[in-house]
Amino acid sequence: MNGVFVVGAGPAGMFAARQIALAGFEVFLFNRDIKPGGLAEYGIYPMKDKMKSGLRKQFAKVLELPNVHYFGHVQVGDVYDLSLAELEAMRPAAILYTCGAQGTKKLGLPGEDLMGVYAAKDFVYHYNQLPPYASMDFSTGKRIAVIGMGNVAIDIARWLLLDDPARQTEDVIIVARRGPSEIKFDKKEIEYVDRHISRAQLIAELDRVRERCASVGQDASPDTVFEQHFRRLKDPAFTSVPPRLSFRFLSSPLAVLPGNDGRIGGLQVAENELVLRPDGSTAAKDTGVRTTIAIDTLIFAIGDKHDARIGLPMGKDGYATKPNPESTKEPSYQVWDPTAERAVEGRFVAGWARLASTGLVGIARHDGEVGANKAIEFLKSLPDRCTMGADEVQARLEARGLRVVTKPDLELLTRAEQRAREPVPASPYGFADNESMFQAIDRERELLQTSASEGSQLVPTA
Ligand SMILES: Cc1cc2nc3c(=O)[nH]c(=O)nc-3n(C[C@H](O)[C@H](O)[C@H](O)COP(=O)(O)OP(=O)(O)OC[C@H]3O[C@@H](n4cnc5c(N)ncnc54)[C@H](O)[C@@H]3O)c2cc1C
Ligand SMILES: NC(=O)c1ccc[n+]([C@@H]2O[C@H](COP(=O)([O-])OP(=O)(O)OC[C@H]3O[C@@H](n4cnc5c(N)ncnc54)[C@H](OP(=O)(O)O)[C@@H]3O)[C@@H](O)[C@H]2O)c1
Repeated sequence: MNGVFVVGAGPAGMFAARQIALAGFEVFLFNRDIKPGGLAEYGIYPMKDKMKSGLRKQFAKVLELPNVHYFGHVQVGDVYDLSLAELEAMRPAAILYTCGAQGTKKLGLPGEDLMGVYAAKDFVYHYNQLPPYASMDFSTGKRIAVIGMGNVAIDIARWLLLDDPARQTEDVIIVARRGPSEIKFDKKEIEYVDRHISRAQLIAELDRVRERCASVGQDASPDTVFEQHFRRLKDPAFTSVPPRLSFRFLSSPLAVLPGNDGRIGGLQVAENELVLRPDGSTAAKDTGVRTTIAIDTLIFAIGDKHDARIGLPMGKDGYATKPNPESTKEPSYQVWDPTAERAVEGRFVAGWARLASTGLVGIARHDGEVGANKAIEFLKSLPDRCTMGADEVQARLEARGLRVVTKPDLELLTRAEQRAREPVPASPYGFADNESMFQAIDRERELLQTSASEGSQLVPTA
């Protein structure tokens, strides 16, 4: 039997698994987290209920396929639960790595390890209740700077301004190295928080950077910027409400300054000008002017990077893939060994594991499916690799002392979550650590066994 291993059960991995299973192969999904979904479960904003539950339903359908086998709570990687050599020893015919971009990006500044300095993904994992981040300290103060102006930065601002149960935020300051023409967030997303922006303050900030933007042909006038990004602020009668959301453009972080209490107390930034690159894009250039912003929390929302500790060969932009000099429009999904200068046969990457921090769920889904098709194409010509069966794989993982989460376990966990939500149907519920999830699974299994032995209709589905 030719089985395909898919490492990572986020959107890319789940939709890839579906594609490969529908092509008739056995699929073995290995996932670091107990639950599938990746950032669709633990990244997408908690209040986007409809979107999250819609995706959960689609993932559940994938897991219903009889030839998809799930091994949750198994972190693949040379320094983790299962090394790449151990994975290979189970004789997969192909492996598709869809493990996302798990490395966090900061800037390597002095003072970055002070208390109150966080990477966006860790912070997002925390408020979305992913163990172990759920139970770690991500306390924030009153004045929070968020570096970067993509959708992740706005999600974090939204949490701090609207939904953080601590409710102590007074100011969120979005700090961006370039100007308003380089805003990456969507109009739809800023509208969740635009009522916290002071129109007068934003106009003053645009005036401050207007000449520097004009020097590279960018129009930073309020009319243009409001039209492009802040539609509701076009109305001169627009008034804002506290807490405040403000922007500081053309500012690159240089140093994180300590406060009195061991936490961060400030951020030193370089004032930038903009220069044109040969391709017409702009780059930020330090003017030599320095400014200090008083803050007590700093969050880097500047994208993520690939986790080098998994052991996949690394290239310039993350996991190395086969170069494709003929066509940049048709990227390669095949793993590349830069030392031996050869493609690694039957090993592929897709989703954010191929291109870190790129695009929405739909893009990750598409990329997973394209990666799956590459694997299927490869498998067509392959002799039988006698991949281990699902029971054998599970036995091997358990022999390593791993508590593996299977499809029936996920069903039990879903029941336990529904039960925990019952007293307050509208409240989001998450277990803060893996141990609580295991206990909930075991408890649910016992309950079902008791009801079954008492003649109830409730029989667990395998
Ligand atoms: C904060 C945030 C909010 C977002 N909000 C939206 C939104 O509102 N709408 C939208 O369309 N898109 C949103 N996105 C984008 C979307 O989440 C991504 O496009 C998508 O999740 C990427 O899918 P992926 O499968 O490639 O990676 P991921 O979703 O990161 O999934 C990776 C999976 O791999 C597993 N894994 C990691 N390492 C290992 C390992 N070593 N061994 C085994 N398994 C491993 C993880 O447990 C995870 O299940 C958001 C992204 C972020 C960061
Ligand atoms: N609600 C949603 O739909 C949603 C929510 C979250 C994420 N997402 C998606 O997930 C993907 C990732 O989002 P993201 O916000 O992480 O990335 P992003 O959109 O690429 O934004 C990253 C921001 O970080 C800045 N940055 C990068 N490197 C920097 C550095 N060294 N110093 C200073 N600033 C730096 C970038 O500025 P420059 O432009 O100057 O490089 C940019 O403003 C995107 O496709 C996004 O749309 C969607």
